[in-house]
Amino acid sequence: ATNRTFTMIKPDAVENGHIGAILEKITASGFRIVALKLTQMTVADAKEFYAVHSERPFYGELVEFMSRGPIVAAILEKENAVEDFRTLIGATNPADAAEGTIRKLYATSLGENAVHGSDSDENAAIEGAFHFSGRELF
Ligand code: CMP
Repeated sequence: ATNRTFTMIKPDAVENGHIGAILEKITASGFRIVALKLTQMTVADAKEFYAVHSERPFYGELVEFMSRGPIVAAILEKENAVEDFRTLIGATNPADAAEGTIRKLYATSLGENAVHGSDSDENAAIEGAFHFSGRELF
């Protein structure tokens, strides 16, 4: 069925000038952009967004990274969006990501891995609502 996923182009990829290339790859892969903006998470935003990881050793580093500069947030629609988007971005660690995936092409490291992709329909809805109001969805 057609469904939605949520993504962020992370601060590393924005800093490295990859916004355009990543959006092109996303749309060329059949995703429709439902919502889109350049924004920046505060430290408090990043702590809340990644609360599920709060007990992990990399939590502090993750929060600092995700709040250090602007990100591009987007909601994407496609048949099988959540799973197909995770295939498009590749493994969490770019060293393990398949050829041609966004992380293989544009990620810096395990911690600074260029893009986020929701891991379930439920989390896609929660994460999309974290960043966008209803009138920002088209
Ligand atoms: P993502 O899956 O989008 O969301 C959680 C992020 O935590 C993940 O991407 C990585 O960027 C980061 N992460 C996961 N494991 C580690 C780790 N071992 N060290 C640093 N960052 C990590």
